[in-house]
Amino acid sequence: MLRPAAAVFDAYGTLLDVHAAVARHAPRLGPQAAAVSALWRQKQLEYTWILSAAGDYEDFAAITDRALGFALAAHGIGNAALRDDLLAAYRRLDPFPDAAPALAALRSAGLGTAILSNGEPAMLEEAVGAAGLAPLLDAVLSVHPLRRYKPAREVYALATARFGRQPHEIAFVSGNAWDAYGAARSGFRVFHLRRAPGPAEYWLDDIAAGRLTTLAGLPHMLGA
Ligand code: LAC
Repeated sequence: MLRPAAAVFDAYGTLLDVHAAVARHAPRLGPQAAAVSALWRQKQLEYTWILSAAGDYEDFAAITDRALGFALAAHGIGNAALRDDLLAAYRRLDPFPDAAPALAALRSAGLGTAILSNGEPAMLEEAVGAAGLAPLLDAVLSVHPLRRYKPAREVYALATARFGRQPHEIAFVSGNAWDAYGAARSGFRVFHLRRAPGPAEYWLDDIAAGRLTTLAGLPHMLGA
């Protein structure tokens, strides 16, 4: 298969570990820590989808804060200092250990690299900088100027516009099945990263999306 011109990555859950914020403060959350983190992520995504479906928009930093408020309240946790600390930690999430080596290998093979994320620009810039990924990326693209969230069609066009390429010339990598679906619907060469085992969903088997369990094998799959 033709080597793609660029590889575009989802940020949260793909390059950055969304559960790293709670992990950093896990002792303060006790046995509910994992459940709080899961609900936080679930509500954060749900709010993006509902706002987009309703034709409304609020930026991803605000949504992340709202979702955290819900998750903490649902678990009966009313600690304002903890909420602030978790939110601050979310702005500086740990990268997955396979992120930097994969980006570096792709770049040294001459592929363009980018993030396409729901994150708002300042939050993405801080996260990418803190994770040490900034020098490995040609672009950090945010849905923010469009005021619509993934998987809206027009969002994915930001990636083709940035590289001046057709969708089939760009590999799109996401750890979120629904995001992989969105990119596939736009014609990208999609790789679904399944860091945790689970059943296939969002028609990804029909779409014949590439499957990965880590990013380590990606450069080779892309001919890098
Ligand atoms: C992102 C979220 C969806 O980075 O993970 O766009």
